[in-house]
Amino acid sequence: MRPARPVAYSRVQIALHWLVAALVLEQYASSGAILRSHTYHRLGWRPSASDLLLHSLHNRAGLAIIGLMLARLALRLWIGAPAPMVAVGSLAARLAQGVHFAFYAVLIAEGVTGAVASYFWWPMSAVHVILFDLLLALVTIHVAAALWGQFVRKDAALRRIAIWAPSSRL
Ligand code: HEM
Ligand code: HEM
Repeated sequence: MRPARPVAYSRVQIALHWLVAALVLEQYASSGAILRSHTYHRLGWRPSASDLLLHSLHNRAGLAIIGLMLARLALRLWIGAPAPMVAVGSLAARLAQGVHFAFYAVLIAEGVTGAVASYFWWPMSAVHVILFDLLLALVTIHVAAALWGQFVRKDAALRRIAIWAPSSRL
């Protein structure tokens, strides 16, 4: 039987939320090194050691993001999430849930397309690039909604996902 809806995000959910957000920032920062090392390679020059290191970091951290998102999805389906800050069933609540689930789909697909492009079929990189634009659009809506909640509605959304949020559960 599915347990009752939790009153707060669990510690693990909060930790994973901020770990993945930090890794997405790192993925963006390390992606320039991939483009540079591929260009150097094409020109017959040797890519710099730091670019090769960042390239390898991008691939490994990207694969880790797939695993972390699958773990988050399992947790979300298993223990759920607290009720939305806006009325259940309202357009805003459905939009927030849609954006949250789109994050799972887009981030997992982003990792898979990156891996397919790198190890099996290069043309997939075009999808990888487009998906990142989609991810940026989702992050923009998500952060705007969080700031709107914090400063206009003055609700507790940001507080309940904060690292120091009161949560006794795993
Ligand atoms: C899941 C998280 C990931 C994110 C957020 C991400 C993000 C990015 C970004 C922002 C770019 C630059 C796109 C552009 O040129 O505009 C990029 C390029 C690239 N990424 Fe990822 N990436 C992820 C996972 C991976 C994985 C797992 C791999 C490989 C194992 C990978 C391989 C690549 C490659 C080969 C490129 C160059 C594509 C090209 O030159 O067209 N990425 N990625
Ligand atoms: C790439 C970056 C991010 C991703 C992928 C992401 C993803 C998510 C997801 C999927 C949830 C739903 C909870 C869950 O299923 O774990 C969530 C909740 C939340 N996120 Fe983010 N997030 C990101 C960055 C941020 C940032 C930068 C902020 C703050 C400015 C933020 C604020 C929030 C808030 C306030 C909630 C709780 C919403 C609620 O349930 O009422 N997120 N995030």
